Amino acid sequence: MFIKIPEKYQIKKTVNQNTYLVDGELKQWTGETSEVFSTISSTESYKPTLLGVIPTLGAKEAIAALDSADDAYNRGQGLWPTMTVEERILCMTAFVEQMKTKRDEVVKLLMWEIGKNLPDSEKEFDRTVEYIYDTIEDYKQMDRDSAKFVKNSNVNAHIRRGPLGIVLCLGPYNYPLNETFALLIPALIMGNTVVFKPAKIGVLLLSPLLEAFQNSFPKGVVNIIYGRGRTVASPIMKDGRVDVLALIGNSTSANALQDVHPKSNRLRMVLGLEAKNPAIVLEDADLDLAIDECIVGATSFNGQRCTALKVLYVHEAIVGEFNRRFAKKVDALKFGNPWEDGSKLTPLPEPGKPAYIQELIDDATEKGAKIINKKGGEITDNYIYPAVLYPVTKDMRVYKEEQFGPVIPVIAFSDIEEPLDDMAASNYGQQVSLFGKDVKTLAPLIDTLVNLVCRVNLNSSCQRGPDVYPFTGRKDSAVATLSVHDALRSFSIRTFLASKDNAYNNAILKDLLNTKSSNFVRTDYIL
Ligand code: G3H
Repeated sequence: MFIKIPEKYQIKKTVNQNTYLVDGELKQWTGETSEVFSTISSTESYKPTLLGVIPTLGAKEAIAALDSADDAYNRGQGLWPTMTVEERILCMTAFVEQMKTKRDEVVKLLMWEIGKNLPDSEKEFDRTVEYIYDTIEDYKQMDRDSAKFVKNSNVNAHIRRGPLGIVLCLGPYNYPLNETFALLIPALIMGNTVVFKPAKIGVLLLSPLLEAFQNSFPKGVVNIIYGRGRTVASPIMKDGRVDVLALIGNSTSANALQDVHPKSNRLRMVLGLEAKNPAIVLEDADLDLAIDECIVGATSFNGQRCTALKVLYVHEAIVGEFNRRFAKKVDALKFGNPWEDGSKLTPLPEPGKPAYIQELIDDATEKGAKIINKKGGEITDNYIYPAVLYPVTKDMRVYKEEQFGPVIPVIAFSDIEEPLDDMAASNYGQQVSLFGKDVKTLAPLIDTLVNLVCRVNLNSSCQRGPDVYPFTGRKDSAVATLSVHDALRSFSIRTFLASKDNAYNNAILKDLLNTKSSNFVRTDYIL
């Protein structure tokens, strides 16, 4: 049923993004462009909505962006990498203050471009703003902690963290603002320069922020380009000047980009990749709690989260009851457009996704699984209702593939070794949700699980937040750790001034400190 779109959220004017940011200039683009569509229909008879256009840049423009980042870094001698911490913080504060004024525009585009519901879109924006402020605070503390000398074996040392160089930053479509900025912001504040290409979907929502990027940072520090990954990101990597590949996406693209870099030993990688987080529901679990958390974990943003629960292991003694109640709750979730009150399930932004999920369902049902909820698999132009599949076996595609969408496989187990063996054999190792109560059972399990994944969520669904906690994964799920603090470390390297403790050197050190002539050797306390 078509519900009229409220005036406030209608697309009255398309976003014609005909500039891109390189060398501190918003360069006009008159070449080939790509249309950006939303899978949400503005009319009663279904039709994707045209949201705007973006430049389809080529290798030449990509390399010009890399040149710009290279000039701004200037082998570590650029204005940005040599600035004082306080000055870089001022630039970042100027940026976030301007960013806050664009909340409504960004939130509206988030809803249209990726179909995220209104509360979650607002949360994505607000959480990102908070992340920037937290990063600033953490960086101040890091600076305070290093505003000193240490002495060992007659050597005085002033140790800080310095930038790495040029960062290529590629974000995902499911968190096109938050996850991208969780890479971009720490990379920048540590003194690196950046070339950033938005994901294929979730691009226009960055348009309202381009001017803020342009006028908050010195020229060439942030470069924003548009185009296909293969056309723009590959030539940048092939060139060899990129020092850090910062990517949230999948390991196939990360490996492909890493492989074309001519000096892989010089390349640091900060990667958030795919996952297949399981829930393990033990026999003594509080079923109401476990069901509610599994619903949130498996269906928030239609399962399009790397942290989503993508397979549920339920003890055979309670699987019947779990399935009955879980299936009922899934069917009670409301599907609607992102701005509609109470919409928990929303249109899928990838046009091919409903068909892909259908393939997974067909494969599973052909191999013996059943759809155990009434609405499961109901398909429309831009959605497929979450199907709860049971019993799922290892030969099914839905067991092996990261579905990243609305389908929920359930597996019964009798021996806890079964899910543990599966997790050990899996290519993924991000998080797990563990539901149960008896510490005699939980304790050894926790001790094993922490070595299979990087976060064990006790009686709750998996999630990245709070953003101050470490976010990482094992095997194909991540490289490096992200959190407000860890990201600052991931995008920097320890570097220091060392001098033998003698009168001659010490007089120079004193002079350096008293004259405040170095931006690196300083002991002032940033308030
Ligand atoms: O897509 C993966 C995100 O990092 C998940 O973050 O757990 O806050 O939804 P979240």
